[in-house]
Amino acid sequence: MADINLSFLTLCILPILLLLFLKLIIRPHPVTIPIKSRHVFITGGSSGIGLALARQAAAEGARVTILARNPSKLEEAKASIRLSTGIDVTTVSADVCDFDAVKTAVESVDPIDVLVCNQGVFVAYELEKQEIKEVREMIDVNLVGSFNLVKAVLPGMKSRSDRKPLSIALYVVSGRAGYDVFVSFDLTRL
Ligand SMILES: NC(=O)c1ccc[n+]([C@@H]2O[C@H](COP(=O)([O-])OP(=O)(O)OC[C@H]3O[C@@H](n4cnc5c(N)ncnc54)[C@H](OP(=O)(O)O)[C@@H]3O)[C@@H](O)[C@H]2O)c1
Repeated sequence: MADINLSFLTLCILPILLLLFLKLIIRPHPVTIPIKSRHVFITGGSSGIGLALARQAAAEGARVTILARNPSKLEEAKASIRLSTGIDVTTVSADVCDFDAVKTAVESVDPIDVLVCNQGVFVAYELEKQEIKEVREMIDVNLVGSFNLVKAVLPGMKSRSDRKPLSIALYVVSGRAGYDVFVSFDLTRL
């Protein structure tokens, strides 16, 4: 009788323990990238979400660079961040669709620890009402632009010998049209 009870217990409990163990080791672990004193490079940082991120990162002690095309909008953003945090961010003007311009911009600043690809345009109608040239622009700026940024930043990140966390966050393709993807990963864990 004792043997039967033991076998029954083993049969019931072992799989449960195994499942709990698997859940513990397999479940994705949230990664926190410390940004204090790190260089955070935010594209589309002259307005909207990018500007809010830049202000927050500066307030948390990061060294921040913002990139966008329009230099006067960049200067306005810089002044508004200074006003609210007392901190000066670096600005660089480039069109993310132009790989050479992106590479030059990336090489003109300190090595990048955290890249946030946030630049974006979106046309606020349903797809069937969008002009083909508008769709192309969204794909060029939001998607190809992000590839250009990652391609320009990755070699510098991969050549770093310190084992501090490095991160790239991608906000791919336009919002409200219903195909958002926001991916962030820590390169030191790849
Ligand atoms: N706001 C929302 O509710 C929402 C929702 C979902 C997703 N999103 C996405 O989140 C991102 C930011 O949205 P947002 O509302 O903050 O946008 P936003 O206020 O319009 O800002 C867009 C930023 O991207 C820059 N930019 C645009 N084209 C560029 C280019 N070719 N090269 C370099 N920079 C460029 C703009 O500056 P310049 O024009 O000077 O270059 C500006 O700094 C976008 O990808 C958007 O699609 C937004």
